[in-house]
Amino acid sequence: MLRMALPTGRMLKQATPFLEAAGYAPAEPLSDTRKLTVPSKCGRVEYLLVKPVDAPLYVEQGVAEVGVCGKDVLMEVGADLLEPLDLGFARCRMVVAGRPEIERKLDNLLSPVRVASKFPRVAQHYFFKKGTPCTVFKLSGSVEIGAVLGLSHYIVDIVETGATLRENGLVVHEEIAECSARLAVNRAAWYAKLAEVRELLNNLKQAVEGGKP
Ligand code: PRP
Repeated sequence: MLRMALPTGRMLKQATPFLEAAGYAPAEPLSDTRKLTVPSKCGRVEYLLVKPVDAPLYVEQGVAEVGVCGKDVLMEVGADLLEPLDLGFARCRMVVAGRPEIERKLDNLLSPVRVASKFPRVAQHYFFKKGTPCTVFKLSGSVEIGAVLGLSHYIVDIVETGATLRENGLVVHEEIAECSARLAVNRAAWYAKLAEVRELLNNLKQAVEGGKP
């Protein structure tokens, strides 16, 4: 049996029908339970319900052999794991956003900019590459407030529908990356449990290609 780290919250809703389509339906609904581990009906996978940002760590450390991880979180955490499959759901964009009136080129600015983000490493790295000095404030949610109320010039955040930016009067200035859910695999498990991991990968791949859900 394989253990799969599965992020709670927004991604869990989209992951559940996908896992069902791949033949790994959970033995009970995942959204309401307070249990931390839930078996699959087929008995070949056990789900470990974790906070999205923690999922790569559980996989890297081998607590779970595999995990569903957002590309955004993988970029931020930089864990040492294999990333063999784009699962094709939870699509979003990682962007630099801010108020429309401060729109300006982000390259090689002389005066430091302030940036608020749930992804401080990504933000720091992005502005470093642009040659623009920045101070990054790490926030854990509602990041848009940072730009709306003047804590920061910019935010680095994910955009899915764009509604949160729109409704708060913010605009996208630059796109950093396209993101989606990925299957991450523990390096040792790739060899030690190759047959099981391969079977899982094949079934998930078919669900991706079948366009389900
Ligand atoms: C994410 C993200 C944005 C919002 C974007 O936050 O940080 O705030 O969703 O989605 P949209 O483009 O569809 O509006 P989330 O809902 O995960 O909550 P949080 O701000 O508390 O982290």
